[in-house]
Amino acid sequence: MTPRPAWLALSLTLALLAPGFSQAADAVRGGKLAYTCHGCHGIPGYRNSYPIYNVPKLGGQHTAYMIAALKEYKSGDRAHPTMYAQATTLADADLADIAAYLSGTELKPTGRAVGTAPKASQTCVACHGNDGVGILPEYPNLAGQHKDYLEYSLRSYKSGVRKNAIMAGMAAALTEKDIQELAKFYSSQRPGLCATDEIRELGKCEGR
Ligand code: HEC
Ligand code: HEC
Repeated sequence: MTPRPAWLALSLTLALLAPGFSQAADAVRGGKLAYTCHGCHGIPGYRNSYPIYNVPKLGGQHTAYMIAALKEYKSGDRAHPTMYAQATTLADADLADIAAYLSGTELKPTGRAVGTAPKASQTCVACHGNDGVGILPEYPNLAGQHKDYLEYSLRSYKSGVRKNAIMAGMAAALTEKDIQELAKFYSSQRPGLCATDEIRELGKCEGR
């Protein structure tokens, strides 16, 4: 057996201790922690009971956005009893692993839109891209998301039920007609988001 050079051991130790050293999110570990999430986010077309809208798709979503969303449920900026209950059971340190597992592979921008973009989307492009893929990891992907969930979200920002400084300003200017056209447009972008089980167990997801 060749003895391991001392410098190698030393540099490995330094690498592990270096400030800013961050381990990649552990999706396998996240899968064990995300066990209860499938009951709603795994099943294609599963609906929230009241008000009725489809539970958002998380497969392909930006993980940084998902972590932010879970913290917003914890803090109450997003009020939803079930998601509050779910989020408060999760330690902040585990969120990255869980998000990595549920997202699978984050959507990449295609650079082209499917169909004709409604006029009201001109301001959205700067952050959500022309194909509904968020240009920064903190900006959610809207491509392929459920139409009724997108409508519900925009109405919630507009009414102030869902609190976010950026989106409150964006949604304030939208009419009900704009909201419906925008939701239709973004929900039809491909490739799009999926229910988590569609990718993992059924091995299929529309447009991917
Ligand atoms: C009983 C059903 C249910 C369960 C179980 C559940 N969720 Fe949710 N989840 C929802 C609903 C409904 C929403 C949308 C709520 C809203 O309107 O804000 C949501 C929203 C989310 C969002 C925000 C999505 C977006 O596009 O903004 C994330 C992230 C999320 N859930 C993660 C999880 C994780 C992680 C778990 C497991 C620990 C989990 N959920 C378990 C029903 C559920
Ligand atoms: C300056 C950047 C920016 C612009 C411009 C912008 N958004 Fe957003 N959008 C965000 C951020 C950041 C969030 C996440 C906010 C939060 O945490 O609730 C978001 C969230 C959303 C959501 C909720 C997604 C989900 O999964 O819950 C929808 C829907 C949305 N935006 C649609 C739009 C539309 C439509 C427009 C144009 C009218 C627009 N946005 C313009 C940054 C932007």
